[in-house]
Amino acid sequence: MRLTRRTLLGGLAAASLPIGRAAAAGPGGRQRWLKAGLDRSDGLAGFAAAKGILFGTEVRDEVLTADPALADVVTEDAALVVPGLELKWPALRPSADRYDFAAADRLLQFTETAGLGLRGHTLVWHEVIPDWLKREAEAGRLKQRVDEHIARVVGHYAGKMHSWDVANEVLEPRHGQPGGLRNSMFLKALGPGYIEAAFRTAAKADPGALLCINEYDLEYDHPQHESRRQAMLALLTDLVSRGVPVHALGIQAHLEVGKYRFDPGLLRAFLAKVTKLGLQIFITELDVNDRALPPDEIARDRAVAAHYGEFLAAALAEPAVTTVLTWGLSDKYSWLSTVSEQRRADGRPTRGLPYDENLIRKPAWQAIADAFAKAPARS
Ligand code: G3I
Repeated sequence: MRLTRRTLLGGLAAASLPIGRAAAAGPGGRQRWLKAGLDRSDGLAGFAAAKGILFGTEVRDEVLTADPALADVVTEDAALVVPGLELKWPALRPSADRYDFAAADRLLQFTETAGLGLRGHTLVWHEVIPDWLKREAEAGRLKQRVDEHIARVVGHYAGKMHSWDVANEVLEPRHGQPGGLRNSMFLKALGPGYIEAAFRTAAKADPGALLCINEYDLEYDHPQHESRRQAMLALLTDLVSRGVPVHALGIQAHLEVGKYRFDPGLLRAFLAKVTKLGLQIFITELDVNDRALPPDEIARDRAVAAHYGEFLAAALAEPAVTTVLTWGLSDKYSWLSTVSEQRRADGRPTRGLPYDENLIRKPAWQAIADAFAKAPARS
């Protein structure tokens, strides 16, 4: 569907209306990035922006540098990007007293040159913790190190960011901790208050950024997903009731064909409860694993596209879903084909993203475009 002038103007009108309980994303950031989307009328960001939705994707500095063709696809299809690595502790902070913003600054430069938005990922996460930080935690200095990290990093990009994943994957009900919290180094050393402290420190460093709590396995009709949804609702209700500056829930949406039952009504009921808290909802790491399917690529592509379509139809029916990012655009760089627990048993590359490894659009691309075209305009 080509975007007519009417839909483009409709998108701008939809984009100009405030949504939910949200800080401005930088100085007029959201409107600027939605306009960037509308300027890319043939790309996924154009289909999204016509309904007042920001579409983007995960990028990596080394990939954008090594693969200019992929960089072109990103600038054609995205209005927002999120660094897959460059704003995590290992890349940013090789030691307690040294910060290295070079790679993340290059990505910021890329977005500013292309007129795209940038979202930060992630400030507090139990994965990829540098050994030096583990030693600092053992020495009783974790709070100091986390507070100074958030203040310095968020401050460095203040006024430039769409949003930050302040806390990532804080839930793990199977750990048996109160509130279903993950029994991480942060919980052990700092107690459950580490989440609130992170949000308050980030809000102080950049009052203009949207602050997000990001989580996986919230999507399906499955007991583990249900317990995570209940735990997340309780956590968000507590944070919001105490005036903690959380503005959005990030639903990672690492989907998989054929693994669990998808119930659109169940997802929409959950999204409605989050919306009632005055929060925006971001779909933050969308991709579809096809490892359970037989090798035939045409059948896999069709099934992956169908799952994108049914998930996005349910998610986008909720107007508080304002932002959608895939975790990459091309199968060539997808974590689904590199991380052992995600790979297909037959060793074939996963075909879970909108473009194949030769940057050819797949049915998934069209399914995402169609989902945006059918979505209600945001107001
Ligand atoms: O680029 C180097 C390469 O040069 C080297 O040969 C190779 C082997 O050591 O490592 C490569 O770096 C890896 C990088 O991914 C790029 O593939 C890092 O070791 C590896 O740790 C890194 O993993 C990333 C992971 O987060 C940890 O940061 C994945 O790409 C990234 O997709 C994944 O993303 C997470 C989100 O942050 C949170 N939600 C889940 C999601 C998937 O796990």
